[in-house]
Amino acid sequence: MTMNAVASLSGELPQEEQARVVDADDAYRRLVARLSHQSVVKHFDAYVDVPWDDPAYAIDHDDPRFELPDFDALGSTTWYQSQPAAVRSRIGLHMVATFARIGWQFESVLKRGLLEFALRLPDGAPEFRYCYHEVIEEAQHSLMFNEFVTRTGLPTRPPAILGVGDPLVLRFARRFPELFFFFVLAGEDPIDYSQREMLKSGRGLHPLVERISRIHVTEEARHIAFARHFLRRRVPQLGGAKMFLLRLRTAVVMKIAATLMSRPSGHVVRTYDIPRAVLRQAFGPGSVGARHVKRALFKPRELCWELGVLNERWAPFWQRLGIYAPRGQME
Ligand SMILES: [Fe+2]
Ligand SMILES: [Fe+2]
Repeated sequence: MTMNAVASLSGELPQEEQARVVDADDAYRRLVARLSHQSVVKHFDAYVDVPWDDPAYAIDHDDPRFELPDFDALGSTTWYQSQPAAVRSRIGLHMVATFARIGWQFESVLKRGLLEFALRLPDGAPEFRYCYHEVIEEAQHSLMFNEFVTRTGLPTRPPAILGVGDPLVLRFARRFPELFFFFVLAGEDPIDYSQREMLKSGRGLHPLVERISRIHVTEEARHIAFARHFLRRRVPQLGGAKMFLLRLRTAVVMKIAATLMSRPSGHVVRTYDIPRAVLRQAFGPGSVGARHVKRALFKPRELCWELGVLNERWAPFWQRLGIYAPRGQME
């Protein structure tokens, strides 16, 4: 039972308000229990549910299914399209491998943060069980991503910024869980968006990429649902100073997370000598890449509008970061 529910039962709130708080409390508990149950009846194992050794799932660097589609930011450039087929497929595969590498690095801090958060929960909190299910699922995802990268045989160097903020994120998980769960959404929502777009694009995907993406999308839907409901419940209770910090930091975190998952890493750029002008064309202001970032952030941005983390006063800040869109609009 939350502090609000306790206060309502002790008569500090008017009767109508008491009933509303108890209802909201029950609905939240039921939702978290339902998500926990789903984790029991529908979950995946990295080494049972992916047929790694099936010859049809083998990775060939020259496989044209790894080529970037022409609706992709880099894939749409004449530079990319004029590369030999073997280079096009290798760049595509190298980018998927780097995203998988970034994915497991993000999941590493996410798991540690969830454990820190769960450690401080009061007895009987419904979030405890759910957070442990989520940690277990993220560990399976990281095993999948790591096995995939190993099987590509390609070296991956994650962007230098990754890992630098880990101590800060863990501090948020302990002392400012609202900000931590916005960090979670900033990492999970754009990946989810990209994977869903890829799966519904209808282009012939490599079966390994398709299998891993389907497993990930299924389980991430629960993680995202939990973070959203937690934030809806907790953010309205925050005071002015914490709301200010939440508004400032959430926008920055979203910008960094969505950018990391949408463009080639510095290592990939150097490996294939991708010219600066091509990167500007693909990812600069007004580009296909910039529009992708805004669209990938649609759901968490809408939640920010709903909870007042983004409002008209803060809109110019989001605009300067290049991630703003009016409420209800993708870009
Ligand atoms: Fe994951
Ligand atoms: Fe997740």
